[in-house]
Amino acid sequence: MFACSADVQPRPSEEIAQLKDELVELRRDFHKHPELAFEEFRTAKVVAEYLTDLGLEPKTGIAITGVTADIVGGLPGPTLLLRADMDALPIHEQTGLPFASLVEGKMHACGHDGHTAILLGTAKKLVEHRDKLRGTVRVLFQPAEEGPGGAAPMIEEGVLEGVDAALGLHLWLHLPTGHLNFCAGPMLAASDEFEVSITGVGTHAASPQMGIDPVTVACHCVTSAQTLCTRSVDPKEPFVFSVTTFNAGTASNVIPHRADFGGTLRTYSEEVRVDFKKRFTKLCAGIAHAHGARADVIWREGYPALVNDAKIASLCEEACNDFFHMLSPERRPDPRSLGGEDMSFYLQKVPGCFLFLGAYNEEAQACFNHHHPKFTIDEDALPMGVELFLRCVEKLGQELSPK
Ligand code: NI
Repeated sequence: MFACSADVQPRPSEEIAQLKDELVELRRDFHKHPELAFEEFRTAKVVAEYLTDLGLEPKTGIAITGVTADIVGGLPGPTLLLRADMDALPIHEQTGLPFASLVEGKMHACGHDGHTAILLGTAKKLVEHRDKLRGTVRVLFQPAEEGPGGAAPMIEEGVLEGVDAALGLHLWLHLPTGHLNFCAGPMLAASDEFEVSITGVGTHAASPQMGIDPVTVACHCVTSAQTLCTRSVDPKEPFVFSVTTFNAGTASNVIPHRADFGGTLRTYSEEVRVDFKKRFTKLCAGIAHAHGARADVIWREGYPALVNDAKIASLCEEACNDFFHMLSPERRPDPRSLGGEDMSFYLQKVPGCFLFLGAYNEEAQACFNHHHPKFTIDEDALPMGVELFLRCVEKLGQELSPK
């Protein structure tokens, strides 16, 4: 399944390996107590207390539950932001693990419990070695990555002030533990949602000539939109347009007054994103008009595309390639997907890199996809996350000069 055949796990340094029990304990505590978007009060409290115990002065309540703390190094250098997301999902856990969710209908099914633990462990090591740290590291714990998004409101509250570069990681079940993958340029998609309402004129199903059928008009819009996808978008562009809901009618003998459908648009290119939205809105309006109906199209803007900075990505590569299993860039499996991530908001404002850290291991039961009710991570990946952040911080501290 995986392109790299190296079976030997990379071993974190003794010092980081010794941190594993604590990382596991932290992660399992967060796992037992999952909290949804903007309700991460307990998680934020645990985070803030941990940071305070390290001698830091955390800022809390940023965008409701967000937390940041600055670790000022003993040497001059850049200000780096390290980001973790804290939120869980509305899923009923079915792992059967002894530390499974204690909250009915909520679960850490994406690994954000692990991200939070990794960043706390990283903060601890940075504080211990702050005399050798170049510049400042701002650790940032954000709410609501799964939606509606905690990054944008945290940025509005000033968390990027003075920041030269930003890094984030995602534990990744599409990669075995010990592997790392990422690329320069766009890696995750902009994700927008749309809703369309077609208004016709309701009538008896046996006399369609007395009304205007919104169902057939909506069907024309859906199929014509797929033609628009293949005829108006450069086929080399990563692009997905999916209609995922379609609702109309209440009875077999009634032509309804209205038909609704909606879905998602995923794009890498901002130009394609803007152009397709315009064309689709015009298409629906035109089709509806031709049939004497009306189309109301609403677009809800989601996260922008996640774009890794080429220079930072190559520095991360240099920092990590002698530790993690990484194929040379040209032989590496393509890490790009049309999923979305609100790390993208930070990377719109400052250069940086988002990295996928392998956490797939059948022996650890970590073989279910993200958002599956049996999802879990290989906890061996936790110290590797700390190793990853520390290596990148050291490298960027050497190579980037402060603003
Ligand atoms: Ni996630």
